Amino acid sequence: MAVKGSIKDSFTFVGGLNTEGGYFVTPENSWTEGVNVVPTTDGSIRRRNGIDYEDFYELFAANITADQKALWAFGVGTWSTVAGNGNLDFFVVQAGFTLHFYEGISGAISPTKKSFTVDLRTYKAYNNTETDGTAIASFASTYGKLIVTTRDTDPILIDYDPTTDTISVAKITLEIRDFEGFESPYDIDVEKTYCTIVGPPIMYRFCLIEANKKGLADDHIIVSLERRMKCGVGKCGHCQVGGLYACQDGPVFRYSDIYNVKEAI
Ligand code: FES
Repeated sequence: MAVKGSIKDSFTFVGGLNTEGGYFVTPENSWTEGVNVVPTTDGSIRRRNGIDYEDFYELFAANITADQKALWAFGVGTWSTVAGNGNLDFFVVQAGFTLHFYEGISGAISPTKKSFTVDLRTYKAYNNTETDGTAIASFASTYGKLIVTTRDTDPILIDYDPTTDTISVAKITLEIRDFEGFESPYDIDVEKTYCTIVGPPIMYRFCLIEANKKGLADDHIIVSLERRMKCGVGKCGHCQVGGLYACQDGPVFRYSDIYNVKEAI
């Protein structure tokens, strides 16, 4: 007997939400009038928000080819408290292997573009064979400086000099004792040993790897989640990490309690 194929009865909801019928009554994307609306949980719909140019925007020639546009990573980040100045924040834009900087993260941003850029190819990781500019960058502000990491480059530390309006970039050298292949002469009693991690968030994942290698369980690893706190009493949400408030629930946690909390580490 011939085997009958089955029909996949599923919807992408690109055309909106239709709860009235199955696949044959309302085939996928049949609701063409509903494109660019967002269905809500109460059954109503609202217009999908768009984006627009800011007032008084200024363009700059990035000279990006069509091929690069298709392959490159594009992303944004913030560099807060630049050079230790609590009133100075930079908006960082990654276009492939180039980082661009804008002063201020509110109001009209595009006229504030800085003349300096960072070419990530300069800091390419040893033996990296990936196509330049295809790895998305991560940004972390620390002590007025900016740490940038990507899959393909060594981590770098960017410093800003407000008097000359220039930046300097230094490659970060990670010096961690007990790398893989280098056995520590000390025995660790994992039942009695605890590891406490405090410092720049970028280092946490490396320290956690080393602690795990030593056999420490997640509840024997203590981490301090440093977040900017304002109210300190769980009201403003500034220090929120997933469903936790660093000011009230922490800032010190067992790693076992936060390892699956989004954006905690
Ligand atoms: S500092 Fe305001 S909620 Fe934690």
